[in-house]
Amino acid sequence: MRIFIKTYGCQMNERDSEAGGAMLAERGHELVTNENEADVLIFNTCSVRDQAERKAIGKIGFMKKLKKTRPELIIGVMGCMAQNRGEDLFRELPHIDFVIGTGQLHKLPDIVESIAEERSAQVTLLDPDNAVLTGMGAHCQNSIFASIAITRGCNRFCTYCIVPYVRGREISRDIADIVAEAQELVDGGTREIMLLGQNVAAFGLDGNINPPPPDHSPFAELLEELVKIEALKRIRFTSPYPSYFNDRLIATIAANPKICRNIHLPVQSGSDRILKAMNRNYTAEQYRNIAAKLLDKMPDLTFSTDVIVGFPGETEEDFNATRSLLNEIGFDNAYIFKYSPRSGTAAFKLDDDVPQAIKEERNQILLKDLAERSAKFNIKLNGSVQEVLVEGVSKRNTERWSGKTTNSKTVIFTPSDGIKPGDLIKVKINRVTAVSLFGEIVEKE
Ligand code: SAH
Ligand code: SF4
Ligand code: F3S
Repeated sequence: MRIFIKTYGCQMNERDSEAGGAMLAERGHELVTNENEADVLIFNTCSVRDQAERKAIGKIGFMKKLKKTRPELIIGVMGCMAQNRGEDLFRELPHIDFVIGTGQLHKLPDIVESIAEERSAQVTLLDPDNAVLTGMGAHCQNSIFASIAITRGCNRFCTYCIVPYVRGREISRDIADIVAEAQELVDGGTREIMLLGQNVAAFGLDGNINPPPPDHSPFAELLEELVKIEALKRIRFTSPYPSYFNDRLIATIAANPKICRNIHLPVQSGSDRILKAMNRNYTAEQYRNIAAKLLDKMPDLTFSTDVIVGFPGETEEDFNATRSLLNEIGFDNAYIFKYSPRSGTAAFKLDDDVPQAIKEERNQILLKDLAERSAKFNIKLNGSVQEVLVEGVSKRNTERWSGKTTNSKTVIFTPSDGIKPGDLIKVKINRVTAVSLFGEIVEKE
């Protein structure tokens, strides 16, 4: 069968789609990128905000027409919205054939094949706590970049967040399995690996949410094993909850330049009152201290973050505390979200009392601050020499190539003979814009 998979949501979902697709490919099915050529359409969905659900429901609803003209078409919904809405989805979208929960990814090929044989509607939506790790390591094809999911689920229960409900309890994979997966990817040509987890720095803590003592970090131990893979040039990770950056982890990152100098450090708010209401277990001051400790050891480090504006009860003063924290830390990238109440979460009981117009206004203010900071940041890089992991021909201009710095900045340069994707080269920057750096190669690998 020809299979089309459309993914919504975060990188964990992207990774699940890849693993699901790889398991189907192993059974002899073909993955296609055009939905009109497919026999099976799978939608891997997200529930994190209302808009994410509406987008997927709109798109899947639209498939009804296609199904009318081709009744043999199989349509399935997987991922977080599938887990969240379960059988209700059959009422809203009667033309779909299966709904499969987040813990049941490994059953995807069986379900698709049994529906094709028996033509029966099916639901498999078991307890997300039964999540198994089987199949998580399947990869489709080798490229310079690959992601590895190292944990599943989340135990933190931030009050706004649906993830712990739809992804289940946090479990970590074995270090040996992850290292073997990384080695196999690197043998196939991968040069940069992104480690994924909802609470990635809590890896190996057996789901215990209490941050460990300063000298204990299984995540640091994992990183130390991975840096030993010689042909692996870069390691990134997302998302780490701030409280797990203890001395052990900070020292490991500082000692290993293969671990990229750009860290996503979700802050959510700069107001202690709101952080408490969100059940984030740090204050703005503690967050500042973690960022300062990291910067002290690695002055070239840059940060990105996640922020929610308009959480219930957020006043102008709370918002201004967030705004000044963002400007103070100087994040060079930030994902700003307008609070969206999620049924079943603790914050759902609170009055969603910040008007939409104010949420939008706060969002725009932070986006404007961010654009100003990024432009200034890039100007400082003009004239510098940057180490760049070569990706290949630039999307915009085929005479140029592109790659990324350790700080995740895109660099566009004129290629020279012999360079290939995956090389680490040095580029002298001679022009910058708010989004990219431009330059010429000064040193090849
Ligand atoms: N595990 C990651 C976050 C996953 S969700 C972490 O803790 O960093 C990605 C981001 O979506 C969150 O960081 C938060 O900023 C945002 N988010 C989650 N729930 C939300 C909600 N109900 N409304 C608005 N934004 C939300
Ligand atoms: Fe959601 Fe908080 Fe878990 Fe991140 S740490 S997934 S925001 S509950
Ligand atoms: Fe969305 Fe699920 Fe990721 S809710 S953000 S796809 S974990």
